[in-house]
Amino acid sequence: MEPTLHPTHRKVQDAYGRIARIGGGCCGPQSGCCGGGRIDEVAQGVGYSAEDLATLPEGANLGLSCGNPTAMAELKAGETVLDLGSGAGLDVFLAAQRVGPEGQAIGVDMTRDMVAKARTNAASFRRRTGLDNVVFHHGQIEAIPLPDASVDVVLSNCVLNLSPDQSAVWREIARVLKPGGRVSISDMVLLQPLPEAVRESVIALVGCISGAPLLADLQAMVQAAGLVDRAFLPKGEAIEAMLPLDDPMTHHLLGLLPAGTKASDFVTSLIISARKQA
Ligand SMILES: C[S@@+](CC[C@H](N)C(=O)[O-])C[C@H]1O[C@@H](n2cnc3c(N)ncnc32)[C@H](O)[C@@H]1O
Repeated sequence: MEPTLHPTHRKVQDAYGRIARIGGGCCGPQSGCCGGGRIDEVAQGVGYSAEDLATLPEGANLGLSCGNPTAMAELKAGETVLDLGSGAGLDVFLAAQRVGPEGQAIGVDMTRDMVAKARTNAASFRRRTGLDNVVFHHGQIEAIPLPDASVDVVLSNCVLNLSPDQSAVWREIARVLKPGGRVSISDMVLLQPLPEAVRESVIALVGCISGAPLLADLQAMVQAAGLVDRAFLPKGEAIEAMLPLDDPMTHHLLGLLPAGTKASDFVTSLIISARKQA
């Protein structure tokens, strides 16, 4: 049975379903500018190495990321890793190689076409690597379809900002983590409130801008979820890679900003690290 959909879920699913069906989007579902080479360029601009990207099944990187949370997670062999909003599987496939055959990498995504694409990619990943340690679930990150205390590490890449109930997502992260388990999440955060025109733009919502919380609100949600050792590391350089000047979403966004301002005055990419008390 389909879970109840908030209007935000519907807008996000429509946009990301389209991307899953027609291809990558240069960080914005309205974009059509990215060929395969450009998508890799965007991924390298937000922190992935060419070597890591070369290990991925074709189509696993859709140019939708805003950082490299897997690189920051210090994954160990045998760990169980969960990627929230796993898209076509980018971080799941990288994590699976790091945790090895004794570990597991699990993706959760609410967009059926994305889950289908990730599962197709998983078949080619298994053939190429011999690893059979990835699984993709259809589900919402506000109600993660996994038991309590079942994962060592929660990853996510440019997804939490798309949720209409981000506090619930943080409570769910704390619930599914094992005691001592850790978080490595890349997401967008606001440095100051957005102008109303940007807040109301569906393109800016699905482009991971207008749903981003203010940093102080994000910090409060992570704390309220009971997570400890919290750290919030801005990655300002990722914004330039995510909003290339020839991308239609960049144009749309710049058109909505007050004259003389730029996107990086309002929004930045951030790596969030935290831990569940042992
Ligand atoms: C910007 S894309 C990022 C995909 C992937 N993490 C990557 O870096 O390639 C956002 C993904 O999150 C999924 N998503 C957004 N909101 C979600 C929610 N509330 N529950 C589950 N999945 C969600 C979308 O379907 C989409 O696949």
